[in-house]
Amino acid sequence: MATMTTTATMKAVRIHSFGGPEVLQFEEVPLPKPATGELLVRVQAAGVNPVDWKIRQGLLGRLPLPQIMGSDFAGVVETVSPDVTEFRLGDPVFGVVAEDSGSYAEYALAPVSRVARKPVSLDEIHAAALPTASLTAWQALFDEANLEPGQKVLIHGAAGGVGSFAVQFAKWKGAQVIATASAQNADYLRELGADTVIDYHATRFEDAVDNVDVILDTIGGETQERSWKVLKRGGVLVSIVQPPDDTKAAAHGVRSEFLISKPRGDQLARIADLVANGRVKVHVDMVLPLEEARRAHELSQSGHVRGKIVLGVGHQDVGGFPGTVL
Ligand SMILES: NC(=O)c1ccc[n+]([C@@H]2O[C@H](COP(=O)([O-])OP(=O)(O)OC[C@H]3O[C@@H](n4cnc5c(N)ncnc54)[C@H](OP(=O)(O)O)[C@@H]3O)[C@@H](O)[C@H]2O)c1
Repeated sequence: MATMTTTATMKAVRIHSFGGPEVLQFEEVPLPKPATGELLVRVQAAGVNPVDWKIRQGLLGRLPLPQIMGSDFAGVVETVSPDVTEFRLGDPVFGVVAEDSGSYAEYALAPVSRVARKPVSLDEIHAAALPTASLTAWQALFDEANLEPGQKVLIHGAAGGVGSFAVQFAKWKGAQVIATASAQNADYLRELGADTVIDYHATRFEDAVDNVDVILDTIGGETQERSWKVLKRGGVLVSIVQPPDDTKAAAHGVRSEFLISKPRGDQLARIADLVANGRVKVHVDMVLPLEEARRAHELSQSGHVRGKIVLGVGHQDVGGFPGTVL
């Protein structure tokens, strides 16, 4: 097995029980070893997603404990299993970790199918912000909704991690983009390409929009419930938070889909090209050191992050800086 690593242990953020942010423990743990088809990556940055605090709380089932938190990473290939030909030692990469690994750590395992090469123009902080959020937006709009140029798309929760990428992907595809967000995110979303921004605190979206071809629902609940009537017949609602009611979809003459995103390195490579070519921006709201994972979870759980939160791993200079767009 080719390797650049000599250490036997590493720092990681683990949970030993389910609960609030206080169950996140910054501790020394054994270095993981790559299985067939896997890479060991020296993590430079870990993206934070709402699913991380949902797992921490035990909302997604009782996973085996202890568990290293986090799925998204950017870093450098440190060890490759002998069958791997796609990546070499020292390659800068980003992607999604293996099922039994975690990215809130100095090292993480990833199957090659979940990894893409990091473009030189993309730093590791912004690369780590991409995987889950951008893949979810991509798969919802293109794999599930088959969004076409000229179509009208309504994106709920547009200022969040998934929404920020969805607005840009839809615009890039040539769709007419309507976004829901708070008033303070209106300028941000127009800069990303939204044609119309509806302040959901001030206006009921169903009073402001109709005849929509595609809805991306990142909110669920009554937002999803009120969405059916703004779709045109033959339209589609894709939810990433709550399985839509097929009976209601049929009653409105529309299609509904529930997406659980898939960690695909090939799609990440296409998305990375769009970022490298300046077609898509990555907005990082806050960068915190790995040691401050608890604070990162509190911020994510507030439900009002703009873009993404990223944990810097092994960065001496990360002190929690806001508002970086690449
Ligand atoms: N199924 C999957 O595979 C999958 C994948 C990724 C994410 N998800 C889920 O999808 C959801 C969104 O993920 P995310 O990463 O985008 O979350 P996020 O970054 O935490 O989203 C935060 C954004 O939601 C907006 N928001 C909150 N309430 C809103 C409302 N009623 N109407 C419109 N916007 C609202 C906030 O904007 P304001 O501050 O302007 O209110 C904020 O910008 C999460 O529940 C996550 O777990 C599922």
